[in-house]
Amino acid sequence: MKRLFHPVAITLYVVLFIISLPFILPDKSTKMYTDAQLRQVALSHNMLPVPKTYDALLKVVNTPKNPITREKIALGKKLFFDTLLSQDKSISCASCHLLKEGGDDNLPTAIGYLGQENPFHLNSPTVLNAALAKSEFWDGRAKDVEAQAAGPIQAPFEMHMTPKEVEQRLKLVPSYVTSFRKIFGADITFENVRKAIGAYERTLLTRGSYDDFLEGNDEAISPAAKRGLALFISKGCKGCHTGMSVGGQSIQKFPLRSYLSEYIGLLFQRESISF
Ligand code: HEC
Ligand code: HEC
Repeated sequence: MKRLFHPVAITLYVVLFIISLPFILPDKSTKMYTDAQLRQVALSHNMLPVPKTYDALLKVVNTPKNPITREKIALGKKLFFDTLLSQDKSISCASCHLLKEGGDDNLPTAIGYLGQENPFHLNSPTVLNAALAKSEFWDGRAKDVEAQAAGPIQAPFEMHMTPKEVEQRLKLVPSYVTSFRKIFGADITFENVRKAIGAYERTLLTRGSYDDFLEGNDEAISPAAKRGLALFISKGCKGCHTGMSVGGQSIQKFPLRSYLSEYIGLLFQRESISF
C-alpha cells in the first residue's frame, strides 16, 4: 500500500493526469452552422469564390501593369503551348504544366532541355490558380506570373533560351509580328512575351461546386463537404489556406510545429462541429 503513495508514484499520477487532460476534458464548444451561417463564416474569412464571368475575373486578376484583353489572353495561350520558346524546339510551358493533368507533370523532378532533371530536385508546381498566389516559385522569388515567365525560358535545364533568341525566333513568324503590334502597339520584345503569357495565366483559375456554394447555392455541396468546410475553418486550416482558392498566400518553413505546441494546441483547440 505504501508504494502507491510513494512520492515517485504520486508524481507519476500527476504527470499521467496532465498528459491525459486533452483527451478527458469536455469539448470547449460545439459549433452549429446553418448553410447561410457557414457561408457567412467562410466569406468573412476572405474565402471568396473564384470568379465565374469574364467581367468578374477582370475585377480579381487585372493589373494596370499588364492590362488584360481577350486578344492578349489568346496570344499568351499560343505562347504557352509553343515549343519555339525552347532551344531545341521540343519543350513548351505546357510540357511541364499539363493543364489537363492539374497544371503540373506528375513527376517527382521536372525534366527539361535535353532530358535534364531540375538540379534542385524541384517538381513543377501547378500553374492553376498560381496567378492568385502572393508570389511565385517554391521560394517565392518572383513577385507575379509575368516576372516568373522569364525564369523557365532562360534556365539552361528548362528551355535554355536568351531573351534575344526568343525575340529573333518569334519575329520570323508573321502571325506573331502582327499580333504583338496589334496588342502592344510595338515589335516583339521579351518583356511583352512575358506579359502575354502572364495575361493568359491570370485566367487559369479553377472553379468548382465549392464556389457555387459560396455564391449562395446551398445544394452545390454535400452535407459531408459542409462539415468538412466547417472543420477546415474551425481547426485552423484556414490560418494558412486563406483567400480565394484557399492557399498560396504564405510560404512556410517545415517543420511547422513542435510536439510541445501540438500538445498545447490539443489542450486549447478542442472543438467539434455539428449541424
Ligand atoms: C522543364 C519543366 C518546366 C518548364 C518547361 C516550365 N516550367 Fe514552370 N515550373 C517548373 C518548375 C520545376 C517550377 C518550380 C521552380 C522553382 O520553384 O524554382 C516551375 C514553376 C512555375 C510557376 C510558379 C508556380 C507556383 O506556384 O509558384 C509558374 C507560374 C510556371 N512555372 C509557369 C511556367 C511558364 C509560363 C512556362 C513557360 C514559359 C514554364 N513554367 C515552363 C517546371 C517547368
Ligand atoms: C501552418 C500553415 C498550414 C496549416 C495550418 C495547414 N496547412 Fe495545408 N499546407 C501548408 C503548406 C505550406 C502546404 C504546401 C506544402 C508543400 O506543397 O510542400 C500545404 C499543403 C496542403 C495541401 C496540398 C495542396 C496541394 O496543392 O498539393 C492540402 C490538401 C492541405 N495543405 C490541407 C490542409 C488542411 C486540411 C489543413 C487543416 C487540417 C491544413 N492544410 C493546415 C500550410 C498549412
